[in-house]
Amino acid sequence: MRIESTCRLKFMVACAFLIAVCFGAAAKYTAARQKANDTRTEKALLDARKVSTELTNKVRELLLKELEKGSYEGAISVCANVAQDITRQFNEKSGHYVRRVSLGYRNPNDSPDEYERHKLESFDRLSREKKLESEYYEVVSEQGREYLRYLKPVIAGKMCLNCHGQPDEIPIGVQRIIQETYPNDHATGYREGDVRGAVSVKIALPSKTAK
Ligand code: HEC
Repeated sequence: MRIESTCRLKFMVACAFLIAVCFGAAAKYTAARQKANDTRTEKALLDARKVSTELTNKVRELLLKELEKGSYEGAISVCANVAQDITRQFNEKSGHYVRRVSLGYRNPNDSPDEYERHKLESFDRLSREKKLESEYYEVVSEQGREYLRYLKPVIAGKMCLNCHGQPDEIPIGVQRIIQETYPNDHATGYREGDVRGAVSVKIALPSKTAK
């Protein structure tokens, strides 16, 4: 009787030990997988941050330069051609997707998709509530593929109102060019601090490393 119960105790201890080892291994495995998948997202996030910051900084810097020179034509070309060049180059080089989007777009190519529209609407709301943050991202699934979707709000500064502000803030020469080039323009009437739009990045994540 005594011997039997000692055996049973030993057996139970051994089982407990085995279970603990298995749990430990499983936890380690899950942690490794998590880390690999986090690394995929981290890398995509760094790329998204880099290109969106480069785009907004470059456009702002060159706009300022042209406006200081008093060249509205030059400035218009910056907000159109320079921005389009940067996004095209990134897309061609990386095979990813970056573009500017806005609910009140000037160039119809900048009209948002469903996902972007929802986000832009929430940016307007968050901005009114003074809760807007500098970036938003999440991993989404589309037809079995995972993507990082990243949006960085673009805020209208004072100099932007030259071409995106109230009609009486926009010089006549600029109004003329805009009317000719963008007959269906929606990108005026903004005030300083409004959400003008967003830089939107979408990056396909490599398939999961460990299954
Ligand atoms: C000199 C005029 C001018 C100024 C100043 C200007 N923009 Fe623009 N903006 C334009 C034009 C023209 C377009 C259309 C671009 C295109 O065709 O790709 C545009 C487009 C945009 C877009 C893309 C969405 C859309 O409406 O098609 C964003 C975002 C934007 N501007 C933000 C800004 C911000 C922010 C500033 C200030 C830092 C600014 N712009 C200053 C002329 C200007």
